[in-house]
Amino acid sequence: MKLFVYHTPELTPTDKVPECAIAVDVLRATTTMATVLSAGGEAVQVFSNLDQLMEVSEKWAAEKRLRAGERGGAKVPGFELGNSPLDCTPELVQGRRLFISTTNGTRTLQRIQDAKAVLTGAFVNRAAVVQYLLEQQPETVWIVGSGWEGSFSLEDTACAGAIAHSVLQQTNLSPDEQAGNDEVFSAIALYSQWQDNLLGLFHHASHGKRLLRLNCHEDLKYCSQTDILDVLPIQQEPGVLKKY
Ligand code: MLT
Repeated sequence: MKLFVYHTPELTPTDKVPECAIAVDVLRATTTMATVLSAGGEAVQVFSNLDQLMEVSEKWAAEKRLRAGERGGAKVPGFELGNSPLDCTPELVQGRRLFISTTNGTRTLQRIQDAKAVLTGAFVNRAAVVQYLLEQQPETVWIVGSGWEGSFSLEDTACAGAIAHSVLQQTNLSPDEQAGNDEVFSAIALYSQWQDNLLGLFHHASHGKRLLRLNCHEDLKYCSQTDILDVLPIQQEPGVLKKY
């Protein structure tokens, strides 16, 4: 198994697809997706376009769907939810499909949707992602941070490092045998420096600051927890993720 880390979806190669690709958007899309499926949601369906989301979800019975729209960290007017994982309680999401469009996370999923296996990862479900990799042993794995509108995000690369770090700890291969690009080493170094204070790291991150300005401190706290959800969102068909 060779691991590759990409800080943003724009940095992934366009002439190949990996056996397994993992979308990471710690603040907050992939944390929300893990939370919804862990709380009993039927599936998560992602859209980069809000109008298309409305059109497709309109065909579902109102009690079987939830619509979440986020732009710039804020809820889009007219949508039931923004992108706060804390809103995704079992009472609300049980048996329903979440139709979601966010600024960056949903675009990452679209970029990698042709990989043989497409997963989503965040700190909250890091162990479930690692367990899948160790069991399935895909030959090539891309861990793709969502960043912010094409730029690097501290929290996504730190999470990519958390995944790579745990895989390395649990295999007998040397880092040089396991790492497919230099970014793997930098992601592991970032995670190693901040692993005991991820919330502190989020306070330095530009999107962490944006969310704090929107009074989302509790979201940051929730997203900074590691290995709390034993759930793995996996793509069933392009754009649709279910529990593995
Ligand atoms: C995104 O997709 O850009 C994020 O998840 C934004 C957010 O915090 O809602």
